[in-house]
Amino acid sequence: MVKQVVTTACFVLFHCIVSYWAFMSSPSIHSSASKTSSIPAIASYFGTKGRYEEVNKYLIDDILAINTSLVNLPSPECREVHLTAIIRHGTRFPTTKNIEKMRQFHMVVRNASLNLSGLSEWKMWYTQDMDGRLVEKGREDHRHLAQRLIAWFPSLLNRESLSGGRVKLVTSSKHRCVNSTIAFKEGLMTGLHIAVELDIDVNDALMRYFDQCERFVKEVENNKSALEEVKRFNESPEMKRVMEKMADRLNLPYPSITDDSVEAAFYLCAYEFTILSLNSPWCQLFDEVDAQVMEYANDLKQYWKRSYGHEINSKSSCILFHDLFHRLDRVVDQINSEDSVSEAVTVQVGHAETLIPLLTLLDLFKDDVPLTSSNFAEQRNRVFRSGQIVPYAANLLVVLYKCPEGTRMSLRLNEKSLDVPGLADPVPMYEDVKKRYSTLLGGCDQESVCKVNNS
Ligand SMILES: *[C@@H]1O[C@H](CO)[C@@H](O)[C@H](O)[C@H]1NC(C)=O
Ligand SMILES: *[C@@H]1O[C@H](CO)[C@@H](O)[C@H](O)[C@H]1NC(C)=O
Ligand SMILES: *[C@@H]1O[C@H](CO)[C@@H](O)[C@H](O)[C@H]1NC(C)=O
Ligand SMILES: *[C@@H]1O[C@H](CO)[C@@H](O)[C@H](O)[C@H]1NC(C)=O
Ligand SMILES: *[C@@H]1O[C@H](CO)[C@@H](O)[C@H](O)[C@H]1NC(C)=O
Repeated sequence: MVKQVVTTACFVLFHCIVSYWAFMSSPSIHSSASKTSSIPAIASYFGTKGRYEEVNKYLIDDILAINTSLVNLPSPECREVHLTAIIRHGTRFPTTKNIEKMRQFHMVVRNASLNLSGLSEWKMWYTQDMDGRLVEKGREDHRHLAQRLIAWFPSLLNRESLSGGRVKLVTSSKHRCVNSTIAFKEGLMTGLHIAVELDIDVNDALMRYFDQCERFVKEVENNKSALEEVKRFNESPEMKRVMEKMADRLNLPYPSITDDSVEAAFYLCAYEFTILSLNSPWCQLFDEVDAQVMEYANDLKQYWKRSYGHEINSKSSCILFHDLFHRLDRVVDQINSEDSVSEAVTVQVGHAETLIPLLTLLDLFKDDVPLTSSNFAEQRNRVFRSGQIVPYAANLLVVLYKCPEGTRMSLRLNEKSLDVPGLADPVPMYEDVKKRYSTLLGGCDQESVCKVNNS
């Protein structure tokens, strides 16, 4: 299994395979590869680089299981009429920028007089061309999610809706998203034992709207001061302590370990686990407190770059928000006029950067106090935890139900129910949801919110 993953991962790079075998033949790796210890103790702190199984632990035993105790359902007289699923791509390789950081840190570690099991035998096998590509585990993430969604929504995801063209697939143009969507489609075909034509629509205006929102790009993406809190946290006493502890563990002088080093080490531990299912020697460089600090650094970045930190972050998703409600309105119109629903299931595959702003626009996962560089301790029980919100293959599910009293709507994130903020009913009437978001529904116009005011 691991061999297969890595061979695929390394593509044609022979030297990579060779160094992988050198690495695998190290005795310390084999001894730590038993079932229980193959999960790093810090696996729940990997944030956006965490695996989906971390948020639904029952999947570790059975990846096709669904857990209905985590979901609120309306009364049995209701029936499902529509599902929109907005999904992050599956497990992927690091990007070129992070591979470079990992490579440089590995050089520093190679210099150290090491006293940590397995680390000196570890060989760098990540290469620049892997740049954020989907790995085999990432394809599995989507195949399995598709199969679980069939189990969740048998009346919507079935042979009839698939062959009747009532299932739509949309994706961002990034190869990891396109390949995730292909894997999702394979999961549908496997789960339903059917082979049909199913087009995949590539739509960056919808799934990568953030690139096209000029104001977001100017005020946040290309603006160093927008992430001032992230920078300050990297210089905080908490982060300094992580660096010093790592230098001690590596027998290196303090100045040789920077915030980039600890980040690279954390990535190495996370990627070796999510891609290869290994509890790698890199993970020994962090105890639980260190991992919590690293998690907070990652969450701070997401908060200021994609979420509540700046208003334009969530506003950049207005186009996806309106797309969703237009579709839901259309479904409701069809139900009310006794027509059949033309779009039973819509699957949209994108990025963490697609999901976080939309969840933020909907006022979800909002802490009372903003996340800053100085309140790490106070934020211990924050709801804004990117590893819980957007692990690989994270999914927002919007479900419409036809009930005797009218249409109801439910929200699920990662197969767990979410309350619509401000509404007491766990499966509220669709009209109440629209009232709740009436300001956004009446405004939130992409053109005007994203326009740069040059005056
Ligand atoms: C479902 O989730 C609940 C709540 O997290 C958990 O206690 C239970 O063990 C899960 N059920 C299964 C079958 O894993
Ligand atoms: C490795 O150690 C040598 C000698 O101490 C030093 O000159 C060099 O800069 C070090 N390299 C790295 C990558 O730290
Ligand atoms: C190596 O680690 C062991 C256990 O942590 C410690 O007792 C020993 O002194 C260390 N040796 C060196 C050279 O740092
Ligand atoms: C993924 O998709 C790209 C094109 O979108 C394709 O060239 C490639 O073969 C696919 N597979 C992998 C492993 O990236
Ligand atoms: C950059 O961000 C800072 C802090 O949010 C803000 O005050 C400033 O106006 C931004 N600069 C630009 C060019 O938008």
